[in-house]
Amino acid sequence: MNVNHLRQKEAYNVAIVGATGAVGETFLNILEQRDFPIDTLKLYASKRSKGKQVTFKGTTYTIEELTEDSFAGIDIALFSAGGSQSKQYAPHAVKAGAIVVDNSSAFRLDPSVPLVVPEANPEDIAWHNGIIANPNCTTIIMLVALKPLYDYSRIRQVFVSTYQSASGAGAQAMEELKQQVRSWVAGEDISVEKFQHQLLFNVIPHIDKFQDNGYTGEEMKMFNETRKIMHDDEIRVSATCVRIPVLYSHSESISVVTENEITPEKARELFAGAPGLELVDNSDEFQYPMPLETQFQDDCQVGRIRKNIAGDNTLNFWVSGDQIRKGAALNAIQIAELLIDDTDKIRNRFKTAS
Ligand code: A2P
Repeated sequence: MNVNHLRQKEAYNVAIVGATGAVGETFLNILEQRDFPIDTLKLYASKRSKGKQVTFKGTTYTIEELTEDSFAGIDIALFSAGGSQSKQYAPHAVKAGAIVVDNSSAFRLDPSVPLVVPEANPEDIAWHNGIIANPNCTTIIMLVALKPLYDYSRIRQVFVSTYQSASGAGAQAMEELKQQVRSWVAGEDISVEKFQHQLLFNVIPHIDKFQDNGYTGEEMKMFNETRKIMHDDEIRVSATCVRIPVLYSHSESISVVTENEITPEKARELFAGAPGLELVDNSDEFQYPMPLETQFQDDCQVGRIRKNIAGDNTLNFWVSGDQIRKGAALNAIQIAELLIDDTDKIRNRFKTAS
């Protein structure tokens, strides 16, 4: 499919699938904020939400139940309703002529589907066949920081531990953490449904299903998706993904082993010129990235940059980013913007300053 047919239009018919979810609501917020050129807007969720109303740019829209016939006339469909909904409905959207930007893991490793972080591989949108996949949130946030380093020296290995907020597990999971706070304050029993354990006053080193190799699905997503996005089947990523009692924004402690040494000074220089990234690295003033600083922000922050004293050619740093925005909704909308933009603008917007 040729991406260029969309570039001939002035405004687009957009559908949001999963419009009532944490990411779906943020889609609306970002489309409004960035003044995405919308002609008609259709909002879909499950039967449960049918008839609910939401306001977008001062107009009230009614949530409709998602069906296989929901996509007639749609140009761009933003999906964030879980993998099984994507698998079932995305092919119908494509058949109706829409381009799907899918936030689930359903198609990420499908060789016929580009997996795109606009700061890392915007050129990959050119070969889509109707579906473009949005990577996992932790992968997106990590790659915004890895890309400027990789352009300077090839990265061989990545060791990463994540500190992931409750909202990464969806709107209901975030509500569960808030309810645990209320119950604790009231001296009531704390109920646990969405997470495996009580999250309040705890950290849970378990996100997604355990695999045969001892890693979890979330951890293997970071391994596999990084290879696909960077077009590098030799890069090795070892991740430990941890849920922490924070509402918004994921943080990551990252060590990279590079082919050539990248000094902390050089890394600061590379990070400072990188799109989507803000350098916050001033230990004298106790300034470093934190979730309370990055929540609801578009840019990820990077700091705590230092030479790893346990390895050669190894650099440590700490990244924090709003995983609902850059880790999901914003990245998907940036992909949609690439679809409607012309190539020069794409290159300039996501070019790393050198
Ligand atoms: P609903 O609110 O009607 O359940 P989150 O990840 O924040 O929990 O959000 C999931 C989103 O996916 C919600 O908008 C939810 O709608 C939607 N969703 C879940 N199951 C379906 C389904 N079978 N069909 C359409 N949308 C669904």
